[in-house]
Amino acid sequence: MNILIVGAGGFIGSHLSEEILRSHRDWKITALDISSDKVSHIIDDKNFDFCKCNILKEFDVQEEKVKQADAVLPLAAIASPLVYVQDPLRVFELDFEANLRIVRWCVKYNKRVIFPSTSEVYGMCTDQEYDEENSNCVTGPICKQRWIYSCSKQMLDRVIYGYGIRDGLRYTLFRPFNWIGSRLDDIYNENNGSSRVVTQFLSNILHNKPINLVDGGKQIRCFTDISDAIAALIKIIENKDGCANQQIFNIGNPYNELSIKNLAYMIVDLAKTYEKIKNAAEKTEIRELSASEYYGKSYQDVQRRVPSIKKAEQILKWKPTTDIKTSIKKIMDYYFC
Ligand code: NAD
Ligand code: UGA
Repeated sequence: MNILIVGAGGFIGSHLSEEILRSHRDWKITALDISSDKVSHIIDDKNFDFCKCNILKEFDVQEEKVKQADAVLPLAAIASPLVYVQDPLRVFELDFEANLRIVRWCVKYNKRVIFPSTSEVYGMCTDQEYDEENSNCVTGPICKQRWIYSCSKQMLDRVIYGYGIRDGLRYTLFRPFNWIGSRLDDIYNENNGSSRVVTQFLSNILHNKPINLVDGGKQIRCFTDISDAIAALIKIIENKDGCANQQIFNIGNPYNELSIKNLAYMIVDLAKTYEKIKNAAEKTEIRELSASEYYGKSYQDVQRRVPSIKKAEQILKWKPTTDIKTSIKKIMDYYFC
């Protein structure tokens, strides 16, 4: 199988590529990205063909690579909330427009597409557990620009679904719920808002900066270890007996439900056990500040987000097994051991 991974140089793409090269030597990866920093350790593998490509511009290259592929994973996107509020059109142009082009080539050349939707499509839905078939997608007013990402992804979900019905497009939509692991964003970037929360807190400790609990940190997420998440993705790509065809799957870990405040204390406590950051962790201040101070006024938060993973359990025969503490220790081992 020839798998095209667009955005292979990112967090998910690099972990997925690593696992495919380890466990499926009969698969070949064509990798497109503007950056190869996070895949430098696998770039010489003969089954990994990296091609530097900006998907906002180089259309011919992309179309040709889609033509040659059996399955396409368009993973390139902006996935950082600070950018949603500061530069929403950039999010629309990349996450929606550029990915729509790729989806249309998949339709044109009859290729299977495995698309990263997001937990964020459920927005501020108040269901106890978000369910792929029944939960509503609830976003805020237009002035709350944070929802540009959720809407871009939701619209693509709907377009892909529509192509499935009209043209028989073979697709799987997977919805990551706060996947975490090494290489998630950039721990060495000092700026607040530059990374998603786990990496952000580690970066704050590393750079002797306070940890910020937005609106007190009561909001809840379910964090999913990247190794569990990649195991689900591999099952989706394998597509045993066509089980993943025209399906939507939440891929998350409901057993790792945690408030952001508890996450902060857990990370600081664990950091105190690593020689390299022990001193910094002991001095780290955990403070509260408002969402508008941290993100600006066009931010709106999701208060509690828990996935139902019944579908993934039943159809993919997949279940996450990594608890949050183990997951965070794995990340710290990667950076600080
Ligand atoms: P990431 O930011 O780590 O990776 C995205 C990659 O896209 C980067 O390597 C980047 O260089 C590349 N890219 C950006 N602009 C590009 C361009 N113009 N041309 C080519 N490549 C470009 O993100 P990720 O966490 O790996 O997420 C991958 C996908 O999964 C995204 O669509 C994201 O929205 C979705 N997703 C991720 C999570 C999560 O928990 N990590 C949650 C929900 C959805
Ligand atoms: C994320 C991003 O939108 C995407 O990466 C992704 O599609 C999706 O959700 C997902 O990973 O499932 P969110 O969970 O809000 O959104 O992203 P984080 O930046 O990781 O923030 C989590 C929570 O921590 C938010 O409530 C945020 O306000 C809070 N936070 C973040 C802080 O309290 N302090 C910080 O310094 C950073």
